[in-house]
Amino acid sequence: MASLEEQINTRRTFAIISHPDAGKTTITEQMLLLGGVVREAGTVKGRQGNFAKSDWMEIEQKRGISVTSSVLQFDFDGKRINILDTPGHEDFSEDTYRTLMAVDSVIMVVDSAKGIEPQTKKLFEIVKERHIPIFTFFNKLDRDGREAIDLVDELESVLGIQAYPMNWPIGSGQILAGLYDLYHNNVEVYRPASATERFLALGADGDLAEPNPLQANGLWQETLEEVELLKDAGNQFDEEAIMNGKLTPVFFGSALAGFGIETFLQTYLTYAPAPQAKKTVEKTEIAPTNADFSGFIFKIQANMNPNHRDRIAFVRVVSGEFERGMDVTLARTGKKVRLSNVTQFMADTRENVQNAVPGDIIGLYDTGNFQIGDTIFAGKKKIEFEELPTFTPELFMRVHAKNVLKQKSFHKGVEQLVQEGTIQMYTAWDSGDYILGAVGQLQFEVFQFRMENEYNTDVVLEPMGSKIARWIVPEQLDPKMASSRNLLVRDRAGQPVFLFENMFAERWFADKYPDVKLEAKL
Ligand code: G4P
Repeated sequence: MASLEEQINTRRTFAIISHPDAGKTTITEQMLLLGGVVREAGTVKGRQGNFAKSDWMEIEQKRGISVTSSVLQFDFDGKRINILDTPGHEDFSEDTYRTLMAVDSVIMVVDSAKGIEPQTKKLFEIVKERHIPIFTFFNKLDRDGREAIDLVDELESVLGIQAYPMNWPIGSGQILAGLYDLYHNNVEVYRPASATERFLALGADGDLAEPNPLQANGLWQETLEEVELLKDAGNQFDEEAIMNGKLTPVFFGSALAGFGIETFLQTYLTYAPAPQAKKTVEKTEIAPTNADFSGFIFKIQANMNPNHRDRIAFVRVVSGEFERGMDVTLARTGKKVRLSNVTQFMADTRENVQNAVPGDIIGLYDTGNFQIGDTIFAGKKKIEFEELPTFTPELFMRVHAKNVLKQKSFHKGVEQLVQEGTIQMYTAWDSGDYILGAVGQLQFEVFQFRMENEYNTDVVLEPMGSKIARWIVPEQLDPKMASSRNLLVRDRAGQPVFLFENMFAERWFADKYPDVKLEAKL
């Protein structure tokens, strides 16, 4: 049995962020293929029906592999990989953001015909805030896309990060010939005639070491010139800058064609960090090698099936070793909990692990003990990790109980669900009306469903649309500042927040009250 330290060093825990349709599912599937978890590639999507479920649930159903939709664990290249799902589409919610708090690095998938899209940008901002390494994969190279140089430029200017191309496309779409790999100093040929022709070595001059028909292609000269330019004018490879999230290694490829994925994954795993230490509320750090087990809850998933009312609390293991049946303390309450009803996430059903180490995710069946952000720890010394950040909601709805006689259970349900992190709650400054805030529509649906099923209360939700929420310090508040275009509300801590109708309303306000500082959460 490998030591704890050895086990930790093999772990790579990450999320893939992208705008819907950029190819996240296809890349995930290719990785599972490389890990030997699935045996054939095939489009997971493309059948009729709705896609309200997570993409991974589709993988699960289609492939018959035993995973929950939120975490995939598999082995590849001597590493044990944990991929955490960050749902987009209709499933987008605060959970998507919080999941990014539980990973050590991130892969950003970008459609090379579309460039940086809004959802990618939002998710990227959160990753950037955490200073964690981010690796970029420009996908769909088999299609006519934009010029590689444009894409890299856009990446740098829109996201405010430096880029280091690890490889460079030799053409794209119909004329895609391969990848010029600056990092490995070879060329990866697109659709080689045989396996031995897949990689061609490069000489010291940057040209192919052996003569090859590829050189007759006009694209080859073009590629050599572009590569020359990159070497002269581009950023330097800087491992420390990668580790701090200041420089993103950039790769090109096609997930659908399975082209460039293996090289990407191998290189990524070389540089992606093993599980990291985590800060506590006392600002000390808990190293993964700390002998006592500790972890934090970053997501609580309620079962939407009324026959199974259980919830699963997702724990990222931070230190020590989890063993089935162990006793831990819940830092918030001091309560002891026995971890016997636990699930683990292994994409390959043949293996049934009984232990989990830092970097791994375990799922605790929860009957209402846990909240998002909770720390659990074993051992005598109390460990409490820093709070998870709050995110600025963008969608708002007024909410009240359909039946006025149900006020009590309504308040109890709202209180519980808000505490659990399902949704955010505000009250109108004057009327005291309840206003719910979320980052994705799904959160309202989950809220409504759970109020009905768990608290037996039908709720009425009145959409208020999207708003820009900005906090101000109470000392600067004059209730006269509120208007129909900037609604004044209180957050749960009683702090004043303005909900602006749109960007113009916010600007108008900023012009009128230049001294008032408007602040966003993450
Ligand atoms: P997502 O999870 O990020 O939302 O994206 P997903 O992998 O589902 O991919 C979205 C679409 O893009 C799919 O097509 C998929 O086949 C396609 N795709 C992914 N990677 C590549 C690539 O490298 N090249 C090309 N040409 N296409 C790619 P779709 O039309 O939505 O699927 P289907 O309805 O045809 O099955």
